[in-house]
Amino acid sequence: MWHRATAEAALARAGVASSRIIVAPGEASKSYPVFEQVCEAVIGARIERGDLVIALGGGVIGDLAGFVAAVVRRGLDYVQVPTTLLADVDSSVGGKTAIDSAYGKNLVGAFHQPILVLADTALLDTLPEREFRSGYAEVAKYGLLGDADFFTWLEANWREIFAGGGSSRSFAREHAIAVSCRAKAAIVARDERETGDRQLLNLGHTFGHALEAACGFSDRLLHGEAVAAGMALALEFSARRQGLIGAADAARGIRHLAAVGLPTRIADIAGPKPSLDELMALIAQDKKVKHGNLTFILMRGIGSAFIETGVEAREVRAFLGEKLAER
Ligand SMILES: NC(=O)c1ccc[n+]([C@@H]2O[C@H](COP(=O)([O-])OP(=O)(O)OC[C@H]3O[C@@H](n4cnc5c(N)ncnc54)[C@H](O)[C@@H]3O)[C@@H](O)[C@H]2O)c1
Ligand SMILES: [Zn+2]
Repeated sequence: MWHRATAEAALARAGVASSRIIVAPGEASKSYPVFEQVCEAVIGARIERGDLVIALGGGVIGDLAGFVAAVVRRGLDYVQVPTTLLADVDSSVGGKTAIDSAYGKNLVGAFHQPILVLADTALLDTLPEREFRSGYAEVAKYGLLGDADFFTWLEANWREIFAGGGSSRSFAREHAIAVSCRAKAAIVARDERETGDRQLLNLGHTFGHALEAACGFSDRLLHGEAVAAGMALALEFSARRQGLIGAADAARGIRHLAAVGLPTRIADIAGPKPSLDELMALIAQDKKVKHGNLTFILMRGIGSAFIETGVEAREVRAFLGEKLAER
């Protein structure tokens, strides 16, 4: 609300005419009916090529508005103005736009790059702490997957990142967001369509998506929380394999996620535990299974993740069986 009024006032001061389309909060807005409403509203506002769609909001708004911009009049320019930490460091960068299908999330969409991403960290001051912490999981992900120095810096500075506000403190927040965006942009520039390296961004997401789906994509487990638990599982799973990350480094990665208050164990998730069969079915669904093998992002060390296409389902099953038995 406040942010919209500020944005509209800024546009008016600059002499830019605008119309607004307001969408209800929540993943449910990434749907066919809302997509249709927004397309019709954009067309009804007589938008023309050369005009702009501005996505002011979190990842839900960015994905929805970006997809609308991708298809209305066969493609309009759009700008992302992310208002959540997750949108700052993840969804606003990389050009993936989508709505959800009855068969799963993000199944109907397009690659459509924004012409600008305007990440104003002051917008995060109104974000509930739990949402901020959830988005932080993706920040930590960039350190874990490809930048050990950044991870070490996060271990030392996370409190300042969370505190935000104030001139000296906002430096840490801005730095964390800038490094994260650069990390994602560099990977996307190498592999926009996710045929190779872009898969590294899925660190923690195979286990994470299964947990998120088992919780019904509800408030019980936010996306970043699921990713944190998923990264902890990926670290532990990697540590069990010969020649990959050592147990001490895996524990270090997990310790940081736990220190900021993110879940790192299945037992940390509120409510009934999913069954092993349920998790395995969700993992098989999420991943391309090639010759009975699953693809996972595993870790050689902190800051060095890689794509492993030869993970046997029974190995994952044995591992998750142990994890589900923990309390
Ligand atoms: N396109 C991509 O590459 C990509 C990557 C990651 C995630 N995503 C998508 O992003 C979505 C999740 O995004 P999200 O985590 O930003 O969730 P979200 O957009 O649902 O926002 C979370 C909540 O915070 C509220 N909110 C947003 N900004 C606020 C602010 N500044 N102050 C107070 N409240 C605020 C929202 O109304 C909502 O209730 C998912 O749909 C996911 O699929 C896309
Ligand atoms: Zn994610």
